[in-house]
Amino acid sequence: MVAIRQDIALADSFVCPQGQTVQNAECCALIPVLEDLQTNYFAGEVCSSVARSALRVAFHDAMGWSSNTTTNLGNGADGSILVFDCVEMEYAANERLGVAVSVLQPFLNNHNISAGDFLQFTAAVGLTTCPGAPAIPYFFGRPDPIQPAADGTIPLPSDSVDQILARFSDVGFDPTDVVALLGAHSIASADINDDTTTVPYLDSTPQVFDVEFYKEVLLPGTISNNSIEPTDTTASPFTWEIRLKSDANIAADIRTQSTWQTLINNPSTFGSAFSEVMAQLSILGNDPETLIDCSDMIPAPMPAPPPNTGAIVEPIRCDKSIQNAKKCLIFIFGGGAVG
Ligand code: HEM
Repeated sequence: MVAIRQDIALADSFVCPQGQTVQNAECCALIPVLEDLQTNYFAGEVCSSVARSALRVAFHDAMGWSSNTTTNLGNGADGSILVFDCVEMEYAANERLGVAVSVLQPFLNNHNISAGDFLQFTAAVGLTTCPGAPAIPYFFGRPDPIQPAADGTIPLPSDSVDQILARFSDVGFDPTDVVALLGAHSIASADINDDTTTVPYLDSTPQVFDVEFYKEVLLPGTISNNSIEPTDTTASPFTWEIRLKSDANIAADIRTQSTWQTLINNPSTFGSAFSEVMAQLSILGNDPETLIDCSDMIPAPMPAPPPNTGAIVEPIRCDKSIQNAKKCLIFIFGGGAVG
Protein backbone atom coordinates (compact mmCIF):
# COMPACT_ATOMS: atom_id res chain seq x y z
CA MET A 1 0.00 0.00 0.00
CA VAL A 2 1.43 3.43 -0.90
CA ALA A 3 1.95 5.87 1.94
CA ILE A 4 -0.19 9.01 1.77
CA ARG A 5 1.20 12.18 3.36
CA GLN A 6 -0.16 12.56 6.87
CA ASP A 7 1.73 15.78 7.68
CA ILE A 8 -0.77 17.79 5.59
CA ALA A 9 -3.76 18.86 7.66
CA LEU A 10 -6.80 17.09 6.25
CA ALA A 11 -9.71 19.50 6.74
CA ASP A 12 -12.09 16.94 5.32
CA SER A 13 -10.94 13.40 4.92
CA PHE A 14 -12.14 10.47 2.91
CA VAL A 15 -11.20 6.80 3.11
CA CYS A 16 -10.49 5.40 -0.36
CA PRO A 17 -11.62 1.90 -1.35
CA GLN A 18 -7.91 1.00 -1.22
CA GLY A 19 -7.86 1.91 2.50
CA GLN A 20 -5.85 5.14 2.47
CA THR A 21 -7.25 8.35 3.96
CA VAL A 22 -7.10 11.28 1.56
CA GLN A 23 -8.07 14.93 1.56
CA ASN A 24 -10.55 14.69 -1.32
CA ALA A 25 -12.34 11.60 -2.61
CA GLU A 26 -11.34 12.27 -6.23
CA CYS A 27 -7.68 11.85 -5.26
CA CYS A 28 -8.22 8.10 -4.75
CA ALA A 29 -7.87 7.76 -8.55
CA LEU A 30 -4.20 8.64 -8.13
CA ILE A 31 -3.37 5.76 -5.79
CA PRO A 32 -2.84 3.14 -8.53
CA VAL A 33 -0.93 5.70 -10.59
CA LEU A 34 1.41 6.41 -7.68
CA GLU A 35 1.93 2.70 -7.07
CA ASP A 36 2.75 2.09 -10.73
CA LEU A 37 5.13 5.06 -10.95
CA GLN A 38 6.95 4.20 -7.75
CA THR A 39 7.35 0.54 -8.62
CA ASN A 40 7.94 0.60 -12.34
CA TYR A 41 8.87 4.12 -13.45
CA PHE A 42 11.02 5.54 -10.65
CA ALA A 43 11.80 2.00 -9.44
CA GLY A 44 13.33 3.17 -6.17
CA GLU A 45 16.13 5.11 -7.88
CA VAL A 46 17.41 8.39 -6.55
CA CYS A 47 16.69 11.36 -8.85
CA SER A 48 17.17 9.24 -11.94
CA SER A 49 17.19 10.42 -15.53
CA VAL A 50 13.49 9.51 -15.87
CA ALA A 51 12.60 11.69 -12.87
CA ARG A 52 14.56 14.60 -14.30
CA SER A 53 13.26 14.25 -17.83
CA ALA A 54 9.63 14.03 -16.59
CA LEU A 55 10.09 17.47 -15.02
CA ARG A 56 11.44 18.84 -18.29
CA VAL A 57 8.60 17.33 -20.34
CA ALA A 58 6.08 18.79 -17.84
CA PHE A 59 7.66 22.24 -18.29
CA HIS A 60 7.61 22.03 -22.09
CA ASP A 61 3.99 20.90 -22.06
CA ALA A 62 2.78 23.66 -19.73
CA MET A 63 4.38 26.48 -21.75
CA GLY A 64 2.03 25.83 -24.68
CA TRP A 65 -0.38 28.55 -23.67
CA SER A 66 -0.80 32.33 -23.70
CA SER A 67 -2.55 34.58 -21.20
CA ASN A 68 -3.65 36.62 -24.23
CA THR A 69 -7.03 35.12 -24.99
CA THR A 70 -6.87 36.17 -28.64
CA THR A 71 -3.72 34.07 -29.19
CA ASN A 72 -4.16 30.32 -29.39
CA LEU A 73 -0.84 28.72 -28.50
CA GLY A 74 -2.41 25.63 -26.93
CA ASN A 75 -4.12 24.72 -23.68
CA GLY A 76 -1.11 24.79 -21.35
CA ALA A 77 -0.56 21.97 -18.85
CA ASP A 78 -2.84 19.53 -20.65
CA GLY A 79 -0.46 16.70 -21.56
CA SER A 80 -0.73 17.51 -25.28
CA ILE A 81 2.99 16.73 -25.59
CA LEU A 82 2.19 13.07 -24.78
CA VAL A 83 -0.91 12.82 -26.97
CA PHE A 84 0.02 15.01 -29.96
CA ASP A 85 3.65 13.97 -29.83
CA CYS A 86 3.75 13.43 -33.61
CA VAL A 87 3.27 17.19 -33.96
CA GLU A 88 5.10 18.54 -30.91
CA MET A 89 8.20 16.37 -31.22
CA GLU A 90 8.92 18.15 -34.51
CA TYR A 91 9.53 21.43 -32.65
CA ALA A 92 13.17 22.48 -32.20
CA ALA A 93 12.84 22.87 -28.40
CA ASN A 94 11.66 19.25 -28.13
CA GLU A 95 14.44 17.87 -30.30
CA ARG A 96 15.87 15.52 -27.70
CA LEU A 97 12.70 14.75 -25.75
CA GLY A 98 11.39 11.89 -27.92
CA VAL A 99 12.77 9.11 -25.74
CA ALA A 100 11.48 10.70 -22.53
CA VAL A 101 8.00 11.04 -24.04
CA SER A 102 7.96 7.48 -25.35
CA VAL A 103 8.92 6.16 -21.91
CA LEU A 104 6.09 8.14 -20.27
CA GLN A 105 3.34 7.20 -22.74
CA PRO A 106 2.79 3.54 -21.74
CA PHE A 107 2.38 4.64 -18.10
CA LEU A 108 -0.24 7.19 -19.15
CA ASN A 109 -2.02 4.50 -21.17
CA ASN A 110 -2.15 2.23 -18.11
CA HIS A 111 -4.36 4.67 -16.20
CA ASN A 112 -7.66 6.41 -16.62
CA ILE A 113 -6.62 9.97 -15.81
CA SER A 114 -6.00 12.85 -18.20
CA ALA A 115 -2.60 13.28 -19.83
CA GLY A 116 -2.09 16.65 -18.13
CA ASP A 117 -2.93 15.26 -14.68
CA PHE A 118 -0.60 12.31 -15.32
CA LEU A 119 2.34 14.37 -16.56
CA GLN A 120 2.30 16.97 -13.79
CA PHE A 121 1.79 14.23 -11.19
CA THR A 122 4.77 12.26 -12.51
CA ALA A 123 6.93 15.39 -12.45
CA ALA A 124 5.92 16.25 -8.87
CA VAL A 125 6.42 12.68 -7.60
CA GLY A 126 9.75 12.48 -9.44
CA LEU A 127 10.98 15.64 -7.75
CA THR A 128 10.53 14.03 -4.35
CA THR A 129 13.06 11.35 -5.37
CA CYS A 130 15.69 14.11 -5.59
CA PRO A 131 17.22 14.91 -2.17
CA GLY A 132 16.53 18.53 -1.22
CA ALA A 133 13.57 19.02 -3.57
CA PRO A 134 10.29 20.37 -2.20
CA ALA A 135 6.93 18.56 -2.45
CA ILE A 136 5.08 20.66 -5.02
CA PRO A 137 1.38 21.33 -4.35
CA TYR A 138 -0.56 19.15 -6.80
CA PHE A 139 -3.97 19.83 -8.32
CA PHE A 140 -6.09 17.27 -10.17
CA GLY A 141 -8.82 17.50 -12.80
CA ARG A 142 -7.27 18.84 -16.02
CA PRO A 143 -9.37 18.08 -19.10
CA ASP A 144 -8.03 15.86 -21.88
CA PRO A 145 -5.94 17.70 -24.47
CA ILE A 146 -7.84 18.72 -27.60
CA GLN A 147 -5.06 20.20 -29.73
CA PRO A 148 -1.27 20.31 -29.92
CA ALA A 149 0.58 23.30 -28.52
CA ALA A 150 1.87 25.74 -31.13
CA ASP A 151 5.54 25.83 -32.07
CA GLY A 152 7.76 28.49 -30.49
CA THR A 153 6.25 28.49 -27.00
CA ILE A 154 9.29 26.95 -25.24
CA PRO A 155 12.34 29.19 -24.80
CA LEU A 156 15.54 28.07 -26.53
CA PRO A 157 19.03 28.36 -25.00
CA SER A 158 19.96 30.66 -27.90
CA ASP A 159 17.08 33.08 -27.21
CA SER A 160 17.91 36.52 -25.84
CA VAL A 161 16.99 37.38 -22.25
CA ASP A 162 14.36 39.78 -23.66
CA GLN A 163 12.76 36.94 -25.62
CA ILE A 164 12.87 34.55 -22.66
CA LEU A 165 11.42 37.01 -20.15
CA ALA A 166 8.71 38.03 -22.63
CA ARG A 167 7.64 34.41 -23.19
CA PHE A 168 7.51 33.71 -19.45
CA SER A 169 5.67 36.99 -18.87
CA ASP A 170 3.06 35.90 -21.42
CA VAL A 171 2.24 32.90 -19.20
CA GLY A 172 2.27 34.99 -16.02
CA PHE A 173 5.79 34.78 -14.60
CA ASP A 174 7.97 37.76 -13.68
CA PRO A 175 11.81 37.77 -13.82
CA THR A 176 12.06 36.62 -10.19
CA ASP A 177 9.84 33.63 -10.96
CA VAL A 178 11.97 32.77 -14.00
CA VAL A 179 15.15 32.64 -11.91
CA ALA A 180 13.44 30.34 -9.39
CA LEU A 181 12.11 28.05 -12.15
CA LEU A 182 15.55 27.80 -13.75
CA GLY A 183 16.69 26.17 -10.50
CA ALA A 184 15.28 23.00 -12.11
CA HIS A 185 18.66 22.91 -13.87
CA SER A 186 20.07 21.95 -10.50
CA ILE A 187 18.98 18.41 -11.44
CA ALA A 188 19.88 18.41 -15.10
CA SER A 189 21.96 16.59 -17.62
CA ALA A 190 22.15 17.51 -21.28
CA ASP A 191 22.29 15.29 -24.33
CA ILE A 192 23.17 18.45 -26.17
CA ASN A 193 26.75 17.33 -26.83
CA ASP A 194 26.18 13.66 -26.73
CA ASP A 195 27.53 12.31 -29.98
CA THR A 196 29.45 9.61 -28.12
CA THR A 197 29.22 8.56 -24.50
CA THR A 198 29.55 11.63 -22.31
CA VAL A 199 26.40 13.32 -21.10
CA PRO A 200 27.38 16.55 -19.38
CA TYR A 201 25.58 18.00 -16.39
CA LEU A 202 24.43 21.53 -15.69
CA ASP A 203 26.01 21.44 -12.21
CA SER A 204 28.19 19.17 -10.08
CA THR A 205 25.25 17.75 -8.06
CA PRO A 206 22.75 16.65 -10.73
CA GLN A 207 20.95 14.30 -8.35
CA VAL A 208 20.51 16.82 -5.56
CA PHE A 209 18.06 19.71 -5.76
CA ASP A 210 20.26 22.49 -4.42
CA VAL A 211 21.69 25.95 -5.08
CA GLU A 212 24.95 24.59 -6.50
CA PHE A 213 23.68 25.29 -10.05
CA TYR A 214 23.26 29.03 -9.34
CA LYS A 215 26.79 29.16 -7.89
CA GLU A 216 28.48 27.22 -10.68
CA VAL A 217 26.92 29.23 -13.52
CA LEU A 218 28.81 32.25 -12.11
CA LEU A 219 32.23 30.54 -12.05
CA PRO A 220 34.66 31.74 -14.74
CA GLY A 221 34.20 29.53 -17.81
CA THR A 222 37.28 28.48 -19.76
CA ILE A 223 36.34 25.20 -21.42
CA SER A 224 34.36 25.03 -24.60
CA ASN A 225 32.02 22.04 -24.53
CA ASN A 226 29.96 23.21 -27.42
CA SER A 227 31.08 21.07 -30.33
CA ILE A 228 27.54 20.16 -31.38
CA GLU A 229 25.40 23.13 -30.39
CA PRO A 230 27.64 26.22 -30.37
CA THR A 231 24.62 28.52 -30.45
CA ASP A 232 23.22 26.99 -27.25
CA THR A 233 26.19 26.86 -24.90
CA THR A 234 29.01 28.98 -23.62
CA ALA A 235 32.33 28.18 -21.93
CA SER A 236 32.06 26.26 -18.66
CA PRO A 237 34.62 25.63 -15.88
CA PHE A 238 34.68 21.81 -16.28
CA THR A 239 34.84 19.26 -19.10
CA TRP A 240 31.84 17.42 -17.65
CA GLU A 241 29.70 20.50 -17.15
CA ILE A 242 27.74 22.39 -19.77
CA ARG A 243 26.61 25.97 -19.45
CA LEU A 244 23.55 27.02 -21.42
CA LYS A 245 23.76 30.50 -22.94
CA SER A 246 20.30 31.26 -21.57
CA ASP A 247 21.38 30.41 -18.00
CA ALA A 248 24.60 32.43 -18.30
CA ASN A 249 22.77 35.45 -19.76
CA ILE A 250 19.98 35.39 -17.15
CA ALA A 251 22.55 35.09 -14.34
CA ALA A 252 24.17 38.29 -15.65
CA ASP A 253 21.16 40.36 -16.70
CA ILE A 254 20.35 43.47 -14.70
CA ARG A 255 16.72 42.32 -14.25
CA THR A 256 17.61 38.92 -12.84
CA GLN A 257 21.17 38.95 -11.48
CA SER A 258 20.27 40.07 -7.98
CA THR A 259 17.69 37.27 -7.50
CA TRP A 260 20.19 34.80 -8.93
CA GLN A 261 22.88 35.86 -6.46
CA THR A 262 20.44 35.92 -3.52
CA LEU A 263 19.41 32.31 -4.09
CA ILE A 264 23.02 31.09 -3.92
CA ASN A 265 23.04 31.68 -0.17
CA ASN A 266 19.38 30.94 0.52
CA PRO A 267 18.50 27.32 -0.15
CA SER A 268 15.25 27.48 1.79
CA THR A 269 14.10 30.57 -0.15
CA PHE A 270 14.95 28.69 -3.34
CA GLY A 271 12.93 25.65 -2.26
CA SER A 272 9.82 27.63 -1.36
CA ALA A 273 10.04 29.94 -4.41
CA PHE A 274 10.47 26.99 -6.76
CA SER A 275 7.60 25.14 -5.16
CA GLU A 276 5.27 28.11 -5.56
CA VAL A 277 6.11 28.87 -9.20
CA MET A 278 6.24 25.22 -10.22
CA ALA A 279 2.74 24.73 -8.78
CA GLN A 280 1.55 27.67 -10.90
CA LEU A 281 3.32 26.30 -13.97
CA SER A 282 1.66 22.92 -13.46
CA ILE A 283 -1.83 24.41 -13.89
CA LEU A 284 -1.19 26.91 -16.71
CA GLY A 285 -4.15 27.13 -19.06
CA ASN A 286 -6.50 25.48 -16.55
CA ASP A 287 -9.24 27.01 -14.44
CA PRO A 288 -8.02 26.66 -10.82
CA GLU A 289 -11.65 26.66 -9.63
CA THR A 290 -12.26 23.34 -11.33
CA LEU A 291 -9.18 21.60 -9.92
CA ILE A 292 -9.05 19.53 -6.75
CA ASP A 293 -6.24 19.73 -4.23
CA CYS A 294 -4.51 16.33 -4.13
CA SER A 295 -1.24 17.59 -2.62
CA ASP A 296 -1.40 14.84 0.00
CA MET A 297 -0.78 12.33 -2.81
CA ILE A 298 2.74 13.69 -3.35
CA PRO A 299 5.17 11.68 -1.20
CA ALA A 300 7.13 13.44 1.54
CA PRO A 301 10.32 14.93 0.08
CA MET A 302 13.80 13.67 0.90
CA PRO A 303 15.96 15.89 3.12
CA ALA A 304 18.84 17.78 1.54
CA PRO A 305 22.37 16.51 2.10
CA PRO A 306 24.86 18.93 3.66
CA PRO A 307 26.03 21.58 1.17
CA ASN A 308 29.29 20.91 -0.62
CA THR A 309 31.93 23.07 1.03
CA GLY A 310 34.90 21.31 -0.56
CA ALA A 311 36.26 21.20 -4.08
CA ILE A 312 33.84 20.85 -6.97
CA VAL A 313 34.33 17.41 -8.52
CA GLU A 314 32.76 15.48 -11.36
CA PRO A 315 29.61 13.78 -10.12
CA ILE A 316 29.32 10.03 -10.08
CA ARG A 317 26.56 8.95 -12.45
CA CYS A 318 24.39 7.54 -9.72
CA ASP A 319 21.65 6.05 -11.84
CA LYS A 320 24.01 4.47 -14.34
CA SER A 321 27.06 3.36 -12.37
CA ILE A 322 25.40 2.79 -9.00
CA GLN A 323 22.31 0.68 -9.50
CA ASN A 324 21.55 0.25 -5.83
CA ALA A 325 19.55 3.21 -4.47
CA LYS A 326 20.90 2.78 -0.94
CA LYS A 327 24.51 3.02 -2.13
CA CYS A 328 23.59 6.04 -4.20
CA LEU A 329 22.12 7.79 -1.16
CA ILE A 330 25.22 6.97 0.89
CA PHE A 331 27.27 8.61 -1.85
CA ILE A 332 25.04 11.69 -2.07
CA PHE A 333 24.89 12.16 1.69
CA GLY A 334 28.66 12.10 1.95
CA GLY A 335 29.24 8.57 3.13
CA GLY A 336 32.41 8.23 1.09
CA ALA A 337 33.34 5.79 -1.60
CA VAL A 338 30.82 3.29 -2.83
CA GLY A 339 31.57 -0.27 -3.65
C1 HEM B 1 15.01 29.68 -20.49
C2 HEM B 1 14.41 28.58 -20.16
C3 HEM B 1 14.99 27.22 -20.38
C4 HEM B 1 15.80 26.76 -21.39
C5 HEM B 1 16.32 27.52 -22.58
C6 HEM B 1 16.10 25.38 -21.10
C7 HEM B 1 16.89 24.55 -21.87
C8 HEM B 1 17.33 23.30 -21.50
C9 HEM B 1 18.27 22.47 -22.24
C10 HEM B 1 18.90 22.86 -23.58
C11 HEM B 1 18.48 21.35 -21.55
C12 HEM B 1 19.39 20.17 -21.93
C13 HEM B 1 18.58 19.23 -22.75
C14 HEM B 1 19.39 18.15 -23.44
O1 HEM B 1 20.20 18.46 -24.29
O2 HEM B 1 19.19 16.98 -23.13
C15 HEM B 1 17.65 21.41 -20.37
C16 HEM B 1 17.55 20.42 -19.41
C17 HEM B 1 16.62 20.42 -18.42
N1 HEM B 1 15.68 21.42 -18.17
FE1 HEM B 1 15.61 23.23 -19.00
N2 HEM B 1 15.45 25.01 -19.95
C18 HEM B 1 14.77 26.11 -19.48
C19 HEM B 1 13.97 26.15 -18.36
C20 HEM B 1 13.60 25.05 -17.62
C21 HEM B 1 12.55 25.02 -16.65
C22 HEM B 1 11.70 26.22 -16.25
C23 HEM B 1 12.48 23.74 -16.18
C24 HEM B 1 11.55 23.14 -15.16
C25 HEM B 1 10.78 23.80 -14.36
C26 HEM B 1 13.53 22.98 -16.83
C27 HEM B 1 13.84 21.69 -16.57
C28 HEM B 1 14.91 21.01 -17.12
C29 HEM B 1 15.37 19.72 -16.64
C30 HEM B 1 14.82 18.94 -15.43
C31 HEM B 1 16.43 19.35 -17.46
C32 HEM B 1 17.27 18.06 -17.36
C33 HEM B 1 16.60 16.91 -18.06
C34 HEM B 1 17.41 15.62 -17.89
O3 HEM B 1 18.37 15.57 -17.13
O4 HEM B 1 17.02 14.66 -18.59
N3 HEM B 1 14.16 23.80 -17.72
N4 HEM B 1 16.96 22.60 -20.37
